[in-house]
Amino acid sequence: MKNEITKVMFNEEQIADKVRELAKRIDDDYKEGTLLVVGVLKGASVFHSDLIRQIQRPVMIDFISASSYGMSSTSSGAVKIDKDLDYSIEGLDVLIVEDIIDTGLTLKYLLENMLARHPKSVEICTLLDKTARRKSDIDVKYVGFQILDEFIVGYGIDYAEKYRNLPFIGVPKNVD
Ligand code: IMP
Ligand code: MG
Repeated sequence: MKNEITKVMFNEEQIADKVRELAKRIDDDYKEGTLLVVGVLKGASVFHSDLIRQIQRPVMIDFISASSYGMSSTSSGAVKIDKDLDYSIEGLDVLIVEDIIDTGLTLKYLLENMLARHPKSVEICTLLDKTARRKSDIDVKYVGFQILDEFIVGYGIDYAEKYRNLPFIGVPKNVD
């Protein structure tokens, strides 16, 4: 599998350093109250599990899974929830954890969906951000790395369900 990667973009150590840095910011920002850290399946599962273990304050966790309607690989903005949260988020501080934000249309939908449930607050934490491709005006409070418009895999992120278990983030061969 590793020989199908042309370039390592972030190695294990760089990712671990970034995860610790983000967790520190989160600890500094949420001094009290109940913090619910919501992972967006499946891509963010690896980042989510590393991030929560670097956060020192108590957290609750939950997961949500959403997908775009239609066959197009570029997101149209029409999103459906495939697996919803297990619990009510009313009155809670919610942190949505995402692997990568591209157009931002998926997250915009999720954000609006969450806000309709009357949480105390909602913020977004993404490991990777392709800012140049953003089509929605969402405010992302915690960003790990800004990257250019290059297709990447690993550390939970897939190409056709492959490469999620690579411990680093890299650019695969033969993807267009
Ligand atoms: P968007 O922000 O609604 O356009 O969609 C973001 C989703 O597209 C991410 O959660 C990923 O599932 C997928 N995605 C975007 N860029 C990449 C990439 O470089 N590699 C793999 N998946 C990607
Ligand atoms: Mg995703």
